[in-house]
Amino acid sequence: MSDANIPPSAPARRGNGSRYLFMGLLGLVVGAVATVMVMRALQQREDPYPHSLMHVMAAHMHALKDNVTQNRCAATDVLPHLQTVRALANDIEPAFKDMRDDPKFAKYASDLRAAIDASLASPPLSCPGVQAVAAKIGQACEDCHKYTNN
Ligand code: HEC
Repeated sequence: MSDANIPPSAPARRGNGSRYLFMGLLGLVVGAVATVMVMRALQQREDPYPHSLMHVMAAHMHALKDNVTQNRCAATDVLPHLQTVRALANDIEPAFKDMRDDPKFAKYASDLRAAIDASLASPPLSCPGVQAVAAKIGQACEDCHKYTNN
C-alpha cells in the first residue's frame, strides 16, 4: 500500500458552506418579516362592503338628479334607480355589522326604506315629482349621516 492511492483531499469548502448557511438563515428572517407584514396588511384592510354599498346607492341618487337635469323623467328612466336603491337599502344592516344592533341606526335604515317604498307606491310622473322624491330620499340619507357623523 502506498500513499499514492489516496486521492488528494478536496479543496477546502468551509467558506462556501457558511455562506450558504448564512443565505439560508437570511432567507428565513426575510420570509418571517414579510409574513408579519402581509398579516398586518390583511388585518388592517378594511371591509369594502359598507363603502361600496354607499357609493352604489349614491350613484343611483346622482342618476336621478341627472334625469331631472336632462328632462328624462318617464317611469322607465326613474323606476330602475328607485328600485335599485330600495334593494340596496336592504343591505345596510348586513354591511354595517358594528352598527346594525344600534336601534337608532336600524331606525334610520328603515326610514330610508320607507321613504323609497312611498315613492314606489306612487311613482313620480314628472321631473318636479322626481326632484321631490329624490329630495325626500336624500333627506333620509342625510339623517343617518348626521347621526353617524358621515
Ligand atoms: C342607516 C344609516 C345610513 C343611511 C340610511 C345611509 N347611509 Fe350613507 N353612510 C352611512 C355610514 C355609517 C357611512 C360611513 C361609512 C364608513 O366610512 O365606514 C356612510 C357613508 C356614505 C358615503 C361615503 C362612502 C364612503 O366611502 O365612506 C356615501 C357616498 C353615502 N353614505 C351615500 C348614501 C346615500 C346616497 C344614502 C341614501 C340613499 C345613504 N348613504 C344612506 C350610513 C347611512
